[in-house]
Amino acid sequence: MRIDLPVLTERFGANRFYQVQKIYELDGGIEQDDEFSNPFHVIRQIPYERLYEIEKNMAVIIPVKNERLRLLEGVLSGIPHACLPIIISNSQQTPIDRYRMEREMVDSFCRYAKKKYVIAHQRSPRTAALFKAGGYTALLDEEGFLRNGKAEGMLAGMALARILGKRYVGFIDADNYFPGSVLEYVRIFSAGLSQSNSPFSMARVQWHSKPKIVEEGLYFAKWGRVSRITNEYLNRLLGYYTGFETEALRTGNAGEHALTMELALMLDYSAGFSIETHHFVSLLEKFGGILPNPDTESMKAGVDIFQIQSRNPHFHAADKGDEHLGDMIGGSLSVLFHSPVCPDALKKEILGELRKRHIVGKNELPSQPHRYPPLAGMDFEAAAKVYDWTRQSNFIHT
Ligand code: GDP
Ligand code: CO
Repeated sequence: MRIDLPVLTERFGANRFYQVQKIYELDGGIEQDDEFSNPFHVIRQIPYERLYEIEKNMAVIIPVKNERLRLLEGVLSGIPHACLPIIISNSQQTPIDRYRMEREMVDSFCRYAKKKYVIAHQRSPRTAALFKAGGYTALLDEEGFLRNGKAEGMLAGMALARILGKRYVGFIDADNYFPGSVLEYVRIFSAGLSQSNSPFSMARVQWHSKPKIVEEGLYFAKWGRVSRITNEYLNRLLGYYTGFETEALRTGNAGEHALTMELALMLDYSAGFSIETHHFVSLLEKFGGILPNPDTESMKAGVDIFQIQSRNPHFHAADKGDEHLGDMIGGSLSVLFHSPVCPDALKKEILGELRKRHIVGKNELPSQPHRYPPLAGMDFEAAAKVYDWTRQSNFIHT
């Protein structure tokens, strides 16, 4: 890949938030091109060799809930062969067993492609046993199963990736119509993470656009309605502390993102659809220098957060309605609202925004999404003993 250098960086404690990087070439060549050793170059070449080094150590987690099988199959076809897909499904099992259909499709697809994979149901006893044995009970409900929700599925995927010895985790939604964009997202993950010298880094995709049908033509909207609002408040929070207005943060709702395992284990997480915005909240709380963090290693190495703009438009399953939109805005803003690093003045503004949109009633406060502690507290050795996830080197499911 060839992408531009992120010249502007917002530093916030140990966090380095880089400006959005634009892609010049999706394929930047197989080896290092010597021309790029010139320090005056404004474009960075990341040769395929380097991307491959990362991709072969990466698990791509695909959360899925009742999506069309064809879409899921398309997503699988876009994932580079070197990566391990981990599918965490919360699809229905009665009256029609959609999970079984997914399993059969994934199994035969991966047999033909000779691709390794892992698939697990979020509500299966085996998935629950993993967390019970690992002592990470925050994810379990009263019945002892994993809680429902996308974030909860993502956490299960991360734990499995850790048990399987992966060093990086990336996330791709299952409802993507374009396999080519899936391939691009994974390349963005590996290109993003390859730029960091710290063990703690994250790469987030900024969608180029989301095509919509307006009257008779296609309209390529640049910002989703939710992202616009989330990013505005995230930037205000940053600006409040630095004293300078900023537009640096553009990926507050980036479902497509990747992290090093070190960082993935250290962050805490928020339930449901607020998980992506909460990444920033967790970064500011842990590495912002406002609240104490006893972990000297990460504070010294710093945390790199890259944002890269995709070339492909993002085209996913049809809009899931206004209620979903309200849920997403509500979730994203309430994690900001409830953070101890959110200043009172900003809390007031957030409250105003949520009330104006009738997401929160006149005399109500936003409810705080459930929070999950860092996965670092989980006993992975004990969890790994419950079931050998590598038992069948090729075809693993539960
Ligand atoms: P949007 O794209 O942000 O509007 O959200 P989607 O509804 O498309 O959800 C994003 C991804 O998460 C899709 O692949 C969904 O199938 C998946 N998903 C949604 N809810 C759950 C859940 O409870 N568990 C799991 N494992 N995946 C979910
Ligand atoms: Co979607």
